[in-house]
Amino acid sequence: MNMDQLKRQAAARALDEVRDGMQLGLGTGSTAKHFIELLGERVAAGLNVIGVPTSEATRADAERCGVPLTTLDEIDHLDLTVDGADEIDPQLNLIKGGGGALLREKIVAAASDRMIVIADDTKWVPTLGRFPLPVEVIPFGLGATRRAIEKAFAQCGVSGQMAVRKAKDGHVFVTDGGHWIVDAQLGRIADPASLAKALSAIPGVVEHGLFIGLASSAVLAGGDGIRVIE
Ligand code: 5RP
Repeated sequence: MNMDQLKRQAAARALDEVRDGMQLGLGTGSTAKHFIELLGERVAAGLNVIGVPTSEATRADAERCGVPLTTLDEIDHLDLTVDGADEIDPQLNLIKGGGGALLREKIVAAASDRMIVIADDTKWVPTLGRFPLPVEVIPFGLGATRRAIEKAFAQCGVSGQMAVRKAKDGHVFVTDGGHWIVDAQLGRIADPASLAKALSAIPGVVEHGLFIGLASSAVLAGGDGIRVIE
């Protein structure tokens, strides 16, 4: 089974948790896209759900698949969010934002009663940090923000190269919120909760890709089958 088939398997398993009438957070990325496609098939067959997309790309996918959409201004909570991740540790802490949607993804996950992470099992790691940590920043004053980020890294015992993310066309990648992303190669984050707190305290940081205590379970698809971690 190839990687894409594994992602679809994980998405299909998460779909088992969806009930009629649910208000859903819809994640971003290639794995979340499988979930949206499968959800669209169920909606076409009569399932009544409504979703809040975590990116403009996901909005387009959901519209194409016929999944009805709403916003967090129109509803007061979400029952379940299903999203992918770039890394998942045994405490279900995550690195997210490889697709650049971390800000909306975190707002949606935080507004949700439950978050199921869906992934192929290569995303499962003993310690976060091999995947570059995305930090969404305001372009204004970026030099000062970068220095503050470096200081926060040092306080939390990590260090590594930082680079402003570029889009495929070579221009700076701009998020759906109009911000930039700095990707930090940290290697190993021994205390992700402390680092998350330190980064959140920096004025020029809009959000970071450490999702601490937000995921309720993870569905991991691998060669040996599906593993659900809670
Ligand atoms: C987007 C994300 C994605 O969930 C993450 O990058 C995983 O994507 P994929 O399912 O394509 O591997 O955080 O901001």
